[in-house]
Amino acid sequence: MAPPSDPNRVLIFDTTLRDGEQSPGCSMNLSEKMEMAKALAELGVDIIEAGFPIASPGDFESVRAIAQEVHGPIICALARCNPVDIDRAAEALRGCPRPRIHVFLATSAIHREFKLRMTPQEVIQRAVDGVRRARDYCEDVEFSPEDAARTELDFLAEVVERAIEAGATTLNIPDTVGYAVPEHYAAIIRHLRTTVRGIDRCVLSVHCHNDLGLAVANSLAALREGARQVECTINGIGERAGNAALEEIVMALRTRRDFFGLTTGINTRLLYPTSRKLSHITGMHVQRNKAIVGQNAFAHEAGIHQDGMLKERSTYEIMRPEDVGIPRTELVLGKHSGRHALKQRVADLGYHLTDEQLNRVFEEFKRLADLKKEIYDSDIEALAENQLQTG
Ligand code: KIV
Ligand code: ZN
Repeated sequence: MAPPSDPNRVLIFDTTLRDGEQSPGCSMNLSEKMEMAKALAELGVDIIEAGFPIASPGDFESVRAIAQEVHGPIICALARCNPVDIDRAAEALRGCPRPRIHVFLATSAIHREFKLRMTPQEVIQRAVDGVRRARDYCEDVEFSPEDAARTELDFLAEVVERAIEAGATTLNIPDTVGYAVPEHYAAIIRHLRTTVRGIDRCVLSVHCHNDLGLAVANSLAALREGARQVECTINGIGERAGNAALEEIVMALRTRRDFFGLTTGINTRLLYPTSRKLSHITGMHVQRNKAIVGQNAFAHEAGIHQDGMLKERSTYEIMRPEDVGIPRTELVLGKHSGRHALKQRVADLGYHLTDEQLNRVFEEFKRLADLKKEIYDSDIEALAENQLQTG
């Protein structure tokens, strides 16, 4: 795939169904994968990595079915750099209107020595052969030097250059074990962009794992250096601590457009529904304080914050919940809440109390809040009713 004509457009490559699904507790059957693939297409992702066809007959079938039935995004199949894998990926993609084969091979010294037992020259030859074979099947070929972030920089640049000569159109730089930090990862991308011949004709892509909690930060740092495809998953699911979370990257780019100057094709209002769909299908819950899609992402409990929000929401909100598909901001009533929020909730529940009645409800509410973790509307209603009857 050639780089998009708009130099500020970032391609969203979703790997929820491949790298995400590979993680414990996240496996999906064919119909679940199909449901997710359709949701991802609706969300507006540019590329769906549908699976690793050689891994199992089920993975092969899922890629085949998605390649046939899901229209809009490019459908990508993963393969190691060997003929059997690549032929199987091509077979799964047969008939797909927009196919991509993604071939990968480890390049770091650790992997070369202990896993592959190959010399650097053998690695280069295997990568070149893999890319060429994939190109025999389709024009859109992505190459990933696995464990790129721990690969010697000059060797990495050499492998990438040879993969481009062999016909790769997207060059993906994985931080396979989540080892990079933002400045380090940005420097790798800068080095490749400035030294590798032919890189301008290709899309430079990033793929970050979250072992140090830096997957999103690393991805964003790389986009600042000219990468234009970002590989990510819904809710950040993926091997070990996961992959970069799609919803966080998209909303960081959108909320800080002033800083990044970059756009995506994502319909952000579908972020929350898509996150919920994945949780529902996999049974893997999203942590309450998860950015963008967690239950607390747009909830405020502290009195000072609630007071600010009731006066002007931008005091404590940098994004609008509606923009990510969450119906409204929640002002949670608890022991930290103030009088202003309580007054508003009492009025929203349809009670008209005098200042004196409200003061008494507030006192009782604080006593109750010390005893309970959460105060429900039914608790407030009971306190207000009690005041109307006795007060
Ligand atoms: O993390 C990784 O290196 C991968 C590759 C297959 C791209 O998932
Ligand atoms: Zn990965």
